[in-house]
Amino acid sequence: MICVCIGRGRHKHVLAEHRYLAEQGIPLVELRVDYIRSRLSLKRLLTDRPCPCIITCRRQQDGGQWADTEQARQMVLRTAIVEGADYVDLEEDIAKDIPRYGKTKRIISYHNFRETPDDLYEIHQRMCGLDPDVIKIAALTHRPSDNVRMLRLMQESKVPTIGICMGEIGTPTRILAGRFGAPFTYASLQHERSMAPGQVSYKELRDIYRYDSISPETEVYGVIADPVAQNTSPLLHNVAFGHLGLNKVFVPFRVPRDDLAEFIRECPELGIRGLTVGIPHKDDILKHLSKADGVVRNIGAANTVLFDGREVVGYNTDFRGFQDALDTIFHEDEQGRPLVGRVALVLGAGGICKAIAHSLKRRDADVVLSSRTHERALVLADKFRCRTVQWYERTKLDPDILVNATPVGMHPNVDESPLDAKYMRRDMIVVDTVYNPEQTLLVKQAREVGCRVVTGVEVLVREAALQIEHFTGQTAPLDLMRTALKRAIGAARWQD
Ligand SMILES: NC(=O)c1ccc[n+]([C@@H]2O[C@H](COP(=O)([O-])OP(=O)(O)OC[C@H]3O[C@@H](n4cnc5c(N)ncnc54)[C@H](OP(=O)(O)O)[C@@H]3O)[C@@H](O)[C@H]2O)c1
Repeated sequence: MICVCIGRGRHKHVLAEHRYLAEQGIPLVELRVDYIRSRLSLKRLLTDRPCPCIITCRRQQDGGQWADTEQARQMVLRTAIVEGADYVDLEEDIAKDIPRYGKTKRIISYHNFRETPDDLYEIHQRMCGLDPDVIKIAALTHRPSDNVRMLRLMQESKVPTIGICMGEIGTPTRILAGRFGAPFTYASLQHERSMAPGQVSYKELRDIYRYDSISPETEVYGVIADPVAQNTSPLLHNVAFGHLGLNKVFVPFRVPRDDLAEFIRECPELGIRGLTVGIPHKDDILKHLSKADGVVRNIGAANTVLFDGREVVGYNTDFRGFQDALDTIFHEDEQGRPLVGRVALVLGAGGICKAIAHSLKRRDADVVLSSRTHERALVLADKFRCRTVQWYERTKLDPDILVNATPVGMHPNVDESPLDAKYMRRDMIVVDTVYNPEQTLLVKQAREVGCRVVTGVEVLVREAALQIEHFTGQTAPLDLMRTALKRAIGAARWQD
């Protein structure tokens, strides 16, 4: 069950949002009455309420807005019970002073904005003695291993418990709460109006993560990256899992570089069956694999991990995803070996270039790398036996295929392009790996010149589709994923 938090300064706005959420089918809301700026009327908020609610009046030390005295606050909580609120939230230090009455259920809460404490179990034990119907523990986290402790606590507790690791690292505890036995999870009304660090909007929880269908049997997949907030994998993979009717959920795990080893060790405990690997872990993950296919070894990077019994198996779909995307523009008479001997200029020498260089070389293209930092191009050229050209001389090459593997042109720098249109010709193939926006300046100019173009969206979707095949053994719904990605990119730009 999803509980949406409402925190507004005026009663009429609280009432309007409460009504709207009930119409949306939300079964429970939390009314944060500490946000009300005028004289508080609980009667007005509770009479004829459109769906059940929790009354919470949070003091400032616990992240709230309450500006009056503590005595007045406790009076609000007592009144909420007398008025028959469905739930009332009582912090553990005041819970014993406010007795149970009527049908109102007691949520006993604990907040820690510094850390997830080591003595989580002792705190929980203490709270069990305060006559709770539900225990809520919300603590800031700095390490992914805190999520494991919090989820384990929820799973093992006899009293229904909601354990929240606050902050971006802790987001999995919000998405996976139901899988580990929590009676509900807290969500915000809108992404930009979250009331606690790392809170997810109810629409994301409901529509992307399909929260209400997550059960203890749900298989967990996810992306590990740092940062992870803008990562598109949760969207693409959950769209595919939903379409295929699979009891699987895909979660964003923000894993700092130093926490990778511990995270991989703890994956089985979290029920994780597979991972997408993002920056900065694509190279380091190799140390943690017990098996890897030849492509991973050749490229020196993996972007997909499967946990198969005791084996940790690595794959690289960046390589084939790029190839599949490129193949979409070849005519029938070019099938076979369309790249043999053709000059392919690859701009950039970062992580994605390894898979691109490997892919183009496997098809016998004459690959030339050009990077702003020439030394990086030289290292890759040595590994993949390519040529290089200085960045300032890239315009002199006149290639058959041009690949932009730099972030140039990416939002918000949409007026930039890594190669001016005057260096393009009609029979050139242009691939841009930048996917936000899809129609980069490079893509637009290449189309104007008449080049055949592959966009970053196509590359990204193809890579994800291959990962989904590894995770499910089924064919990914490419069109659906492409549409979802384009819509998300469009919405993100519109919000800015
Ligand atoms: N469509 C997809 O599936 C997909 C997947 C992954 C990445 N990408 C795209 O590919 C881009 C590169 O990703 P990556 O993982 O390879 O990144 P990376 O490892 O950070 O490498 C970035 C490369 O771009 C160069 N670069 C950065 N800013 C530049 C600028 N202003 N002018 C010229 N060169 C510049 C860097 O040169 P220096 O060494 O001089 O900094 C480096 O060679 C990303 O920005 C992303 O848009 C797309």
